[in-house]
Amino acid sequence: MTLVRPSAVREPQFIQLHCPDAEALRTELSAGLCDQPARCAPKYFYDALGSRLFEAITELPEYYPTRTEAQIFERHAREVARVVGRGATLIDLGAGNCAKAAALFTALQPARYVAVDIAVDFVRGALNALQRQFPAMPMVGVGLDFSHTLSLPAPAQDGRPVFFYPGSSIGNFAPDEALAFLRSVRDAAGGGGLLIGVDLVKPTAILEAAYDDALGVTAAFNLNVLAHVNRLIGADFRLSQWRHVAFFDPARSRIEMHLEAREATTVRWPGGERRFVAGERIHTENSYKYTPRAFAELLVAAGFRAPRQWLDPQQWFAVFWADA
Ligand code: AVI
Repeated sequence: MTLVRPSAVREPQFIQLHCPDAEALRTELSAGLCDQPARCAPKYFYDALGSRLFEAITELPEYYPTRTEAQIFERHAREVARVVGRGATLIDLGAGNCAKAAALFTALQPARYVAVDIAVDFVRGALNALQRQFPAMPMVGVGLDFSHTLSLPAPAQDGRPVFFYPGSSIGNFAPDEALAFLRSVRDAAGGGGLLIGVDLVKPTAILEAAYDDALGVTAAFNLNVLAHVNRLIGADFRLSQWRHVAFFDPARSRIEMHLEAREATTVRWPGGERRFVAGERIHTENSYKYTPRAFAELLVAAGFRAPRQWLDPQQWFAVFWADA
């Protein structure tokens, strides 16, 4: 009789390092809402519905970054692979559904894949599915607030580190924060480097349409932050009293998103309240747009060497590689 032994099936490892502190969150949100002008950090966009609305944004005709970045990777896959090198540990920051990194597996042939997101549950399903497609590749899911620390757990530290930060998420940091963040990536990427997507300066009408689409998906994404804040701190925002505002400020080279009170209203939550006059705004997001030269200089200022760049034919978006 022949014994058939099931072949060893590799499972991804999951490690949650970030544990949200409910009290700190309440303090941060109350302070922002009571500030002059009021503000709310963009990380609060991403509850379950907000994450799905963001995925819908990436499919809108007006929101060119996701599509344009994918085209750059498709068009330059061989050269990107040659410069980045095969067999690296690919560390995907803000991995989400892992789709962007997975699209590069064939070209980059990483030895190991590390999917980092604030909550390991955000990557669990996608990583399990990816593991079935690439059964031989060690995969680790890490729940980490990488904007605060990049110290990865031991299983994610083997091999030559190639950090992957697509989608121009770097644009959601202020320039001084972007520099500090890139320095922390450089420190963690010794012997490897960073592959990063960056949205570029372009005519205002194109930028503003991308953040105020005709279907109103970005408006819903912005307004949903109020529903999330209601749940998080027990506030009583009425979404119908607010409207989405997005504009490009050329002096700061950034899109600003705000929520504007349609009428005077008082918002209350346990331990606080804020009176808003009609037209008063809550600042919810900045999205900085770079010139290729300004971003290359930022990489060098952060300690990276020899930045390389690939642009789409319209020069709307750039992918950079830089050695750490
Ligand atoms: C995640 N981040 C790069 C997006 C951006 O374009 O700044 C978030 C976004 N906000 C509105 N639309 C998309």
